Amino acid sequence: MLPTDPFSFGVSLPGGIPTRYDNHITRRLSSMPGQFADQPAYAAMLAQEDVLLYEVYEIVRPHVAGELLHGTSIVHPGQVGKEYFMTKGHFHAELETAEVYYCLQGAGMMVMETPEGEWSVQELRPGRVLYVPPRWAHRSVNTSHDQDLITLFVYPGHAGHDYGTIEQQGFRKLVVERDGRPQVVDNPGWRPPAARS
Ligand code: F6R
Ligand code: ZN
Repeated sequence: MLPTDPFSFGVSLPGGIPTRYDNHITRRLSSMPGQFADQPAYAAMLAQEDVLLYEVYEIVRPHVAGELLHGTSIVHPGQVGKEYFMTKGHFHAELETAEVYYCLQGAGMMVMETPEGEWSVQELRPGRVLYVPPRWAHRSVNTSHDQDLITLFVYPGHAGHDYGTIEQQGFRKLVVERDGRPQVVDNPGWRPPAARS
């Protein structure tokens, strides 16, 4: 039974695991074919080990407009070629829904774009709150070499997820390491809206 009364929980650091949660989702390298720009590096890495890229701890609430879905997202450090470990990224199926992220630990970037091809990349670091407005697809990228990127997220219960669009077209921008620092570059594989079937 889902609680109908108010409740609270803690988030322990450095782990990022809520003291109460309902679902623990894990995403490995094999779940992101075609998403990293350096495909030979992706294939070589996968041949070695199906590395754990990120985890999500969800507090389950009903998927209705009045509810807020929330939990923690933990992206582990690492790179595929020069590109940092990242989440799949998605649009919300109900496009006109927003999301708030609060960074608890680590260093990273949120890569965002609209269906019309506008883009924005915002820094994530402890104590920063990031507002993802309605219509903006979002992907978290961990730019640290040694720390997990831990964020708390909150979004409307009826938002749903559209992963397919990003799987097909990619994000317009990538975050890669250049001269030891994260840099935002064009994604050579990005397909503009007009080119999509
Ligand atoms: C929910 C949301 C986050 C992400 C999580 C993992 O709408 O944006 O909870 O789900 O950071 O990323 P994805 O869902 O892109 O695999
Ligand atoms: Zn989302």
